[in-house]
Amino acid sequence: MSDPTLVHPLRYQREFEKPEDGEAETTAALIDTLHGVAATMAESTGHARRSVHAKNHGLLRCTLEVLPGLPPQLAQGLFAQVRSYPVLMRLSTAPAEELPDNVSLPRGLALKVIGVEGERLPGSEAHTSQDFVMVDGPSFGRPDARHFLKDLKRAAATTDKSPAGKQFLSLLLRGAERVVEAVGAESGTLIALGGHRQSHPLGESYFTQVPLLYGLFMAKVMLAPVSPALQALTGSALDMKGKPDAMREAVEQFFTSGEPAEWELRVQLCTDIDRMPLEDASAVWAEDESQFLPVARIHAAWQSGLSPDALLAADDRLAFSPWHGLAAHRPLGSVMRVRKAVYEASRQFRASRNGCPLHEPQHADDLDLR
Ligand code: HEM
Repeated sequence: MSDPTLVHPLRYQREFEKPEDGEAETTAALIDTLHGVAATMAESTGHARRSVHAKNHGLLRCTLEVLPGLPPQLAQGLFAQVRSYPVLMRLSTAPAEELPDNVSLPRGLALKVIGVEGERLPGSEAHTSQDFVMVDGPSFGRPDARHFLKDLKRAAATTDKSPAGKQFLSLLLRGAERVVEAVGAESGTLIALGGHRQSHPLGESYFTQVPLLYGLFMAKVMLAPVSPALQALTGSALDMKGKPDAMREAVEQFFTSGEPAEWELRVQLCTDIDRMPLEDASAVWAEDESQFLPVARIHAAWQSGLSPDALLAADDRLAFSPWHGLAAHRPLGSVMRVRKAVYEASRQFRASRNGCPLHEPQHADDLDLR
């Protein structure tokens, strides 16, 4: 169903959200565990980085244009007005350690849309941004924050202990995935475990995985490459042999090549709360029920890359969170709710440990991070 006027989204109702028993305790334990990870890393590297998605492959200055002529169900929140906004895009890999890129792990992409007007989310009143924080797979893999905490505790125990072990695991998983692909199937389980393809990060699609309010409705959001030069990178193998920072180099090379880069921001509206639940983060919402539909285009022009030192300095000043945004895009469901306090605690630890206060960009000029 690609005709957006045929989508009949369900209006948000408070009863669709059902906080878990003990959610406050789970949040506190997540903060504690992730603080332990960040503190271990800060101790061993002398610098506090993000406890998740520490490795930065590029910070890009972009422009978002809301598409004209959106039907009412898509012209909601940020997308209600046909306008353009400056955007900052950060590409990353999931772990707390800056492992060599051939350790293939889930990749992240965070957007900060700047100068957005409207009622703000609690805690985000001082900002003007709408952030979208995404990963290169359609579902979170665990149903809720409690299950995620259990897995996180296991992973946290290995932080900074054995990068070689992780490398081995990754190679093993990738090898296994190739076997699966050879027989014609894509292994979702292996990808969830970290057995990603060694592909170019600019060719991938990225997903919020978990839902947010979409004005009157509820939606998941994704970013898909649409310009031919980006699409040519989809699934293309990146040579990572002897190149620990192959992804940063590849991103930089792309943006100095002069090729235009364009993505579509798409939303999938919730039309059936049973098939498209808010509280099960592992559920992939059915695309036969409701497709991802385009609401905006994001362009990035030629730009030179930042040096590793400049990237680190910029990382210290910046924080992305699904809770930096408009009340019209309030994050929904267990995983989203706990992220509010967890991201805030993580950014505060980084700021105090590094002695560098955060500077939320408010204008296009603030995107010059050199
Ligand atoms: C309970 C679940 C989750 C927890 C506890 C969690 C925790 C965190 C923390 C602590 C940070 C670092 C924040 C900072 O210091 O600025 C972070 C960053 C990040 N997370 Fe999550 N996260 C969760 C779920 C997700 C989901 C569902 C996604 C995407 C689908 C995601 C994608 C990312 C990305 C891309 C970043 C890096 C943002 C940046 O570039 O600064 N996370 N997460």
